[in-house]
Amino acid sequence: KRKLILDVDTGSDDSVAIICALLRPEFEVLGLTTVNGNRCVDYTTENTLRISELMGGTTPVYRGCANTYISIMLGRRPGYPRRDGSGPANNAGVHGDFIDQCPPATIKEQEMDAVSWLVKTLMEAEDDSITLVPLGPLTNIAHAVAIQPKIVNKVHEIMYMGGGYKIGNKSAVGEMNVWLDPDAAQVVLSAGFKKITFVPLDATHKAYLLADDAARIRAIGTPASDVCASLIEQRIKGYSTWQKMVDTDELATPLHDPLCVMALLDPTVLQNVVHAHCEIDCGGGAAYGQTIFDIFNGRLDALPPNCYVALSADREKYVDLLVETLQRSK
Ligand code: BDR
Ligand code: CA
Repeated sequence: KRKLILDVDTGSDDSVAIICALLRPEFEVLGLTTVNGNRCVDYTTENTLRISELMGGTTPVYRGCANTYISIMLGRRPGYPRRDGSGPANNAGVHGDFIDQCPPATIKEQEMDAVSWLVKTLMEAEDDSITLVPLGPLTNIAHAVAIQPKIVNKVHEIMYMGGGYKIGNKSAVGEMNVWLDPDAAQVVLSAGFKKITFVPLDATHKAYLLADDAARIRAIGTPASDVCASLIEQRIKGYSTWQKMVDTDELATPLHDPLCVMALLDPTVLQNVVHAHCEIDCGGGAAYGQTIFDIFNGRLDALPPNCYVALSADREKYVDLLVETLQRSK
């Protein structure tokens, strides 16, 4: 079994990703670490507990960072989601504050904080044995690697939902997860992890879901698949007034985060994967939070590749994998 740690800002698509990861016998999910992102960390932790409880409640949840890696003091920070729901991450139409499809959690978060647990768990693990699946801002992982740089040896790979090559969703060029904490993303990129794969918006927008796909999931008819179907329906509605998918005129939603889980199961769900150099714009200008991928490795002055980036994805395969995985909740 592949040992996974999911770092989440739950979130509608994070919820589906967690559910899918927990349903696959190929994976052992060691824990769920939460981070400030779609909503403040209070909310993302509560939502993560709700999803863990839906799935039996045995997967531990560790609360992570409440603020960015480099804090707001620098004054160039566009802002951060706040507890009262104000702040820039006002994408409630797509996520809501809480995962209302599940009742409030009765299970509790662990006492240890996410960063301490990440460092402890990784340092106790065999070399090259753990796969990190960050699905929100990289704040927790950046702190963990700053505290204990040796954790990089323990990590087999990082499969990250974040960034955009030609698509932004928080600004013209900034993707939400990276935009919320670009410094953390740059720290993680420069830390010396063996393999980092970006699953950016370019891939997730190719792997959009339609109402018919939600209906296939609805037809499975289990509590877990019903929650996923409702979340996808909510997203399709939210995206109809927000961002159109380039490849279809139908109402559609990207379902970003589960694409990382499926890519670990079947790498061919990602397409056009390029070994590239990535720099993150942390400057505070118009390109703030942009993931600048240099995909032209042959260029004379190109810097050496430091990551992989998936520029596309196989939509049919993705939807089939989602349906097949959720059928396992029967
Ligand atoms: C990413 O940002 C969040 O809104 C989603 O959960 C996803 O991880 C997409 O930009
Ligand atoms: Ca997320």
